[in-house]
Amino acid sequence: MTTAVQRRETILVTGGAGFVGSHTVVELMAKGYEVVIVDNLVNSKREAVRRVEQIVGREVPFYDIDVRDEAALAKVFDAHPIGAAMHFAALKSVGESVARPIAYYRNNLDSLLVLLDAMRERDIKKFIFSSSATVYGMPERSPVDESFPLSATNPYGQSKVIAEQILRDVERADPSWRIATLRYFNPVGAHESGLIGEDPAGVPNNLMPYVAQVAVGKLEKLRVFGGDYATPDGTGVRDYIHVVDLARGHTAALDALGSRDASLVVNLGTGRGYSVLEVVRAFEAASGKKVPYEIVAPRPGDVAECYANIDAAEKLLGWRAQYGLERMCADHWRWQEMNPRGFA
Ligand code: NAD
Ligand code: WQD
Repeated sequence: MTTAVQRRETILVTGGAGFVGSHTVVELMAKGYEVVIVDNLVNSKREAVRRVEQIVGREVPFYDIDVRDEAALAKVFDAHPIGAAMHFAALKSVGESVARPIAYYRNNLDSLLVLLDAMRERDIKKFIFSSSATVYGMPERSPVDESFPLSATNPYGQSKVIAEQILRDVERADPSWRIATLRYFNPVGAHESGLIGEDPAGVPNNLMPYVAQVAVGKLEKLRVFGGDYATPDGTGVRDYIHVVDLARGHTAALDALGSRDASLVVNLGTGRGYSVLEVVRAFEAASGKKVPYEIVAPRPGDVAECYANIDAAEKLLGWRAQYGLERMCADHWRWQEMNPRGFA
């Protein structure tokens, strides 16, 4: 008798206790991959991994270590037959990166270099990197495709631009590397179980977690940054993507790397934009709660609209997002309602 899911290679997932990483671990395990998580819990909780284990129904090896700790990372490689790495671990707050640039560059770049070096030493060369639409800086128009020029408006974004450059250089020096650079647009939503989701520390910076906390009564009202943009209703337009779709984009990228003889750089978005007020209305409909808001001045560094050209993802990964805004809000709300204090 064959088992339903064939056991496949072992994937090292750095930052696997975090928002995107935890959802990706669930999708990897559903596809039969073995997973090893490395996370120092600087922006996540151990409980997230327990919840992942609850969803997948088995234990997941977890190491509470900093990716930059070479000796500790070496022990992880020695203990598991790792065949590829997905590198989610990074600090990601734009505002904090402006205040603490050294900490951001050290964390985001040293972790990348230490991991790549550990892999190179062991001849493991399949690598998936969490990049971001932030590498397009302030794009002149949308949809944004992968050939647009790269730039950054803050140290966080610059750390991703530099990381991408490092990855290009690594592959140029040794073309046997297979690297997928995945540029996420705006990940939102949560696993349909309501067991895992985004758990921002303090007051959220991003729109949907903020809206969710207004809906649940933790925050009083949303401040809409700018009501006079050249968009249909004057508010900013972004390409929100359900985190489970995003996670599946990673398993698709892993499959694609296995059957390709080159690296790839792709946008992961839905290809369609929604305005801030469309998000507010969709969230109100999903939650049955009012989301009071006021329109205030635009946030410095924001563009009017930013959404992805998704042709490359379809062509190179055979992947396309399945879930629309309604589902993103419904799943986000379930997570928020079931866990008003996050993983605490
Ligand atoms: P997150 O903060 O929820 O997850 C990142 C995880 O990495 C956290 O669990 C944190 O504890 C861990 N971590 C950070 N530095 C570490 C280190 N040195 N060693 C070990 N663990 C470390 O963030 P996320 O939203 O899941 O983002 C995952 C990745 O995707 C990041 O690289 C982020 O920059 C990128 N990204 C996120 C978004 C977004 O809006 N969420 C958009 C584009 C790109
Ligand atoms: C979305 C829209 C805001 C909050 C950021 C990072 C980017 C990437 C994803 C990691 C915009 C508006 C927001 C609020 C508002 N992260 N807004 N009131 O700015 O597109 O991208 O997260 O790589 O690097 O910059 O996402 O969720 O902050 O904003 O009106 O309280 O919501 O102006 O139009 P953004 P966001």
